[in-house]
Amino acid sequence: MALTFFWILAVPPLLCSALPSTTPHVGISIPLSKRTPQLSVNGVVDRDFLNAQVNKVHNKIARGFAAYKKNTGKVHPSNTKHITRRSTGADALQDDSQVLWQGTVQVGTPAVNFTVDFDTGSSDFFLPGPDCDSSCDGHTIYNTSSSSSAEDQDQKFSLAYGDGSTVEGNIFTDTFTIAGLTGTNQSIGAATTYSSGFSIDNFQPDGLVGMAFKEISDFGDDPVFQTLVSQGVVTAPEFAFELSTSGAELFLGGVNTNKFTGSFTTSQVSNTGFWQISMDSANVDGEAVVGNLSAIIDTGTTLIIGDTKSVSELYDSISGSKDASQTVGDGYFTVPCDSIPNISLTFGGKAFSISADTFNVGQAEQGSSDCIGGIVGEDVGDAWVVGDVFLQNVYTSFNVENETVGFASLA
Ligand SMILES: *[C@@H]1O[C@H](CO)[C@@H](O)[C@H](O)[C@H]1NC(C)=O
Ligand SMILES: *[C@@H]1O[C@H](CO)[C@@H](O)[C@H](O)[C@H]1NC(C)=O
Ligand SMILES: *[C@@H]1O[C@H](CO)[C@@H](O)[C@H](O)[C@H]1NC(C)=O
Ligand SMILES: *[C@@H]1O[C@H](CO)[C@@H](O)[C@H](O)[C@H]1NC(C)=O
Ligand SMILES: *[C@@H]1O[C@H](CO)[C@@H](O)[C@H](O)[C@H]1NC(C)=O
Ligand SMILES: *[C@@H]1O[C@H](CO)[C@@H](O)[C@H](O)[C@H]1NC(C)=O
Repeated sequence: MALTFFWILAVPPLLCSALPSTTPHVGISIPLSKRTPQLSVNGVVDRDFLNAQVNKVHNKIARGFAAYKKNTGKVHPSNTKHITRRSTGADALQDDSQVLWQGTVQVGTPAVNFTVDFDTGSSDFFLPGPDCDSSCDGHTIYNTSSSSSAEDQDQKFSLAYGDGSTVEGNIFTDTFTIAGLTGTNQSIGAATTYSSGFSIDNFQPDGLVGMAFKEISDFGDDPVFQTLVSQGVVTAPEFAFELSTSGAELFLGGVNTNKFTGSFTTSQVSNTGFWQISMDSANVDGEAVVGNLSAIIDTGTTLIIGDTKSVSELYDSISGSKDASQTVGDGYFTVPCDSIPNISLTFGGKAFSISADTFNVGQAEQGSSDCIGGIVGEDVGDAWVVGDVFLQNVYTSFNVENETVGFASLA
């Protein structure tokens, strides 16, 4: 398999308030490392990988819509096209969550360390359980029978992933600690089967921590951060991500003032479930070309996925851009490698630029002067999914009390 390259970012030193008292922490950060098989190999994009990414996002949003319906009894307002999950035609080994931001969490009594992907596009927490078959090999097992605080909830779960396989298992409640902050009675899925996308070759962390709202929790329970908030462990009901190439961290209990400059531009979550906000426009060289859109802000997605109509309009306004559906895959477009335009997204009236480096996914073919753009067309309901291609350019805060997303310039 070609996609074995990965890079671990230099991470900043742990920055924590380190109060030995019982008062809640003012805010605490957890360093994240990024592991990603390259979107391109020797500068040329990997088609199977890119196509798998689009399927992955499609299925992830479909899972959220299904959980929303189960929890609220209503069709998610953005599920206008009634999308359902589909299987990918791409190599299953290259499916799912390969590009992610991971950190450490401790679970159970006595506490055991696990690495997890922190994902603002979903809301459940799961790990490989003691009865997991060979699909969990290589991961650290959450052995519920050796944790004295684990309680079986007598409830099964099943999450469908992109290649048609599922992550399934049993729901327990247990104690967990992230960056020194301890919560109890957290619902944790102990998997009996992992989909191929979570096998050790494809997914280095042990499990996944969802950081969106309860409404899209398949378990129907509070996500990890909301548990910390309701148990009074964090002073501020807010967390923030820095996902830049110069360092990455998740900050719990507010924002890390060392990591951004100026003020935040905040947007109200339009519908509690995903971190979904209005996006005023997508701009090319300062000109709004498509607008009045809705965007799901997702640390667990690599690319920016937009509805096919808007994305095609966006590339139409870029001179030299070409449809790459025949050469790379549906929804992909190229731009001239030597003149990547200044693409920006406007939220709350302020435009935030995407650097040429993050927008450019790689050369379309060996020796080509066309490069694949990081905004890709795929209809996943009435919303864009704004992932790392954008989020690496900003500091992002997520406020669970006021249900707002804030963007600020990186320090
Ligand atoms: C568990 O993780 C914590 C926090 O990252 C770390 O300080 C500790 O050394 C780890 N313990 C083991 C046994 O790896
Ligand atoms: C889980 O722990 C129990 C009790 O300590 C032990 O008997 C069992 O072998 C462990 N299972 C796994 C998969 O490690
Ligand atoms: C623990 O969590 C479960 C599931 O979320 C809930 O039903 C139960 O009431 C909680 N128990 C306590 C003591 O908070
Ligand atoms: C890119 O466009 C944004 C929004 O119009 C603008 O603020 C920024 O200065 C531009 N950057 C460059 C390098 O031209
Ligand atoms: C968004 O809608 C407003 C009001 O209908 C309109 O004035 C504006 O031009 C639209 N923006 C874009 C980028 O289409
Ligand atoms: C939520 O909004 C209220 C009113 O603007 C403000 O007083 C409060 O500090 C905000 N909460 C957080 C966590 O930002």
